[in-house]
Amino acid sequence: MKNGFPHFMLKEIHEQPEALRNTILPRLSKGLPDFTDDQIPDDVFTSCSQIHIVACGTAMHAGMAARSMMEPLLRIPVTVSVASEFRYEEPLIGEDTLVIIISQSGETIDTLAAMRLAKNYGAAALSVVNVKGSTIARESDYTLYTHAGPEIAVASTKAYSVQLAALYMIGCRMALVRGKYSVPQATEFMKKLLNAIPAMEAMIAQKDSIKALVTHLINKSDAFFIGRGLDYAFSLEGALKLKEISYIHAEAYAAGELKHGTIALITEEVPVIAIATQEKVFAKTISNIREVKARGAFVILITKEDAVLDRGVADIHIRIPKIGDRFTVFPIAVVLQLIAYYASTGKNLDVDQPRNLAKSVTVE
Ligand code: F6R
Repeated sequence: MKNGFPHFMLKEIHEQPEALRNTILPRLSKGLPDFTDDQIPDDVFTSCSQIHIVACGTAMHAGMAARSMMEPLLRIPVTVSVASEFRYEEPLIGEDTLVIIISQSGETIDTLAAMRLAKNYGAAALSVVNVKGSTIARESDYTLYTHAGPEIAVASTKAYSVQLAALYMIGCRMALVRGKYSVPQATEFMKKLLNAIPAMEAMIAQKDSIKALVTHLINKSDAFFIGRGLDYAFSLEGALKLKEISYIHAEAYAAGELKHGTIALITEEVPVIAIATQEKVFAKTISNIREVKARGAFVILITKEDAVLDRGVADIHIRIPKIGDRFTVFPIAVVLQLIAYYASTGKNLDVDQPRNLAKSVTVE
């Protein structure tokens, strides 16, 4: 069942390129995203004036990344809510709102309740779900299935990257039908999305060097993940993965926010995993890295391969292939998953079944 891999998590990390192909390729028509077979008509995308994304955990982090990608592209408000909060709120949504519900299992109780609430407010509910025929898929108005196949490890890996692929396709289709993208621009976007797949493969091939760097983490009790913009959204997921399977306390911080209090926690004992793949804020993130370095932090920095760095900025430098800024999440996800995986195995923990966690949270 594990196809020769020691754990389901490692197997599922390796399955991501194929899962992405399975999710993207059947929905490409002449190089453009097309949801005809999913029975999602374009008026779902043209009739709304705001998007509200609702999910839990890793699925919510996919939503955070999608928000940072979609809002500047579509120029409409895109909000992300934690389902367990949203369901008890009085959200400012209505018939003008497209609510995107993200769930691997399609059974998470808070996400389901949030979707029911959104529908009561008159919003259109589009679910991005992995498990066929699940409750969220059945009750939503429209469903875009991800094709990750069964995910067995409790820590979500391939489900996260296919959720992102589906959300990126939604963003591209919306931009096209709302006149924000011309056909050539949308085609270019999809090409870049497809280019992210070999970039993921390149990072999977570097797993041994990622395993080696984890020696700097496993004897520590705390770690920080920092980044700005999209890189911050990726940091949230990196920190969650590390916490849930290695039991190392990890916090994700918007890099520029550290100096507003939290930098007091940075010492030689606190490694910092910094992500700097976004051209627009690259120099700013590097200056935040210098701040943590000056406090003695051991810095593991992830950038694109062509990033130019001064000596001594980072202790370890991981380079991902040069791809469009919006798409770096795919290779970055692999790196962050492998860091968490090897931190867990390095501590001899139960990677696939971490303590206190269940694969599907169907109780409140
Ligand atoms: C973390 C993880 C969880 C799930 C969350 C939502 O690795 O797997 O945070 O993402 O419980 O689950 P679904 O997507 O099934 O609604």
